[in-house]
Amino acid sequence: MARQGPLCQRLHRQVQANRRHNRDWRRWSHAPLLLKEPFARPLLQHAGTDVYKASARSMNPTKQDRGETSMSFHASFEGRTVLITGASRGLGAHFSEILAASGARVAMAARRSADCQARCDRIRAAGGEALAISLDVTERASADAAMAAVLAASGRLEMLVNNAGVTTTTPLLDQDEASWTRIMDTNLKGAFIVGQAAARVMAADGKGGNIVNVASILGVRVAGQVAAYSASKAGLLQLTRSMALEWARHGIRANALCPGYAETDLNREFFASEAGKALIRRIPTRRLGQLSDLDGPLLFLCSDASAHVTGASMPVDGGHLVSSL
Ligand SMILES: NC(=O)c1ccc[n+]([C@@H]2O[C@H](COP(=O)([O-])OP(=O)(O)OC[C@H]3O[C@@H](n4cnc5c(N)ncnc54)[C@H](OP(=O)(O)O)[C@@H]3O)[C@@H](O)[C@H]2O)c1
Repeated sequence: MARQGPLCQRLHRQVQANRRHNRDWRRWSHAPLLLKEPFARPLLQHAGTDVYKASARSMNPTKQDRGETSMSFHASFEGRTVLITGASRGLGAHFSEILAASGARVAMAARRSADCQARCDRIRAAGGEALAISLDVTERASADAAMAAVLAASGRLEMLVNNAGVTTTTPLLDQDEASWTRIMDTNLKGAFIVGQAAARVMAADGKGGNIVNVASILGVRVAGQVAAYSASKAGLLQLTRSMALEWARHGIRANALCPGYAETDLNREFFASEAGKALIRRIPTRRLGQLSDLDGPLLFLCSDASAHVTGASMPVDGGHLVSSL
């Protein structure tokens, strides 16, 4: 064990005492005990303890850890209509419920409109306003028809969440053109087509609007076997900036949300594996995102609280983008 100075020894004794106090290092409620000394973390690492690992999680309990399900940011979208693409499942379905709970009239769009309809029924049963729309974001005619359906039902459109997205896991040497094109067409061209159709409505209305493009931390940094996805999301970030620049004169804001890895049914098994756990250890907060982690940032970007924010990219990733190289 490395030779320790008096401060290190004192901290080490405190850690031992805390350890005796509670053996369950995963309990977040003991974080204040562990981090009494603000400079303790590097010293404790130096002392060769595993406190850093424990405290990182302790300082960043998931909402599940805390047993919380409520939102921490409140916004009211009473009387506003939002179109959400890729709303048949995953993030898009979740965003629809969150925005509807904040008073928005949500138009939920995807190719599988029957799945959107099931969510709409749930929203309506909870007292919200929702509409299911069939949309293939890769086709201009489909986007125009979806926009017409929104206007027929609501007469207006104030917000767009460009969320539809696809990916594959393929080594770049094996990437075939068809799959490259499908990913680019959905993630990048789709956001352009739907974004342009929405912006034309918002500009003609004269009241402006708000666009949130759902990108990814993979638009900023790369990982193996997702080249097409990363390139499409990097393009989406640049498209967001162009939208912000060119459409500001119409009162339209455009920002990007960049989620990090979020736990879903699809990846839960992977993140329980050794490789998955190793990935989680590279996230500074030592945990995966939950869908609810995106609620506050989404509501902020959609609301007037961010009235002077446009062209921005907001990572929601537990610091994954700033992890050490
Ligand atoms: N989950 C994560 O960890 C994570 C992290 C970073 C970023 N993101 C981004 O978040 C967004 C949603 O991801 P997710 O995890 O919720 O994915 P998901 O569960 O696979 O859902 C994707 C959604 O996109 C829709 N979609 C796909 N192709 C479409 C098309 N051509 N036209 C219209 N809709 C289409 C799908 O509906 P249909 O199949 O019914 O059309 C579905 O509703 C994506 O843009 C993704 O890149 C996710």
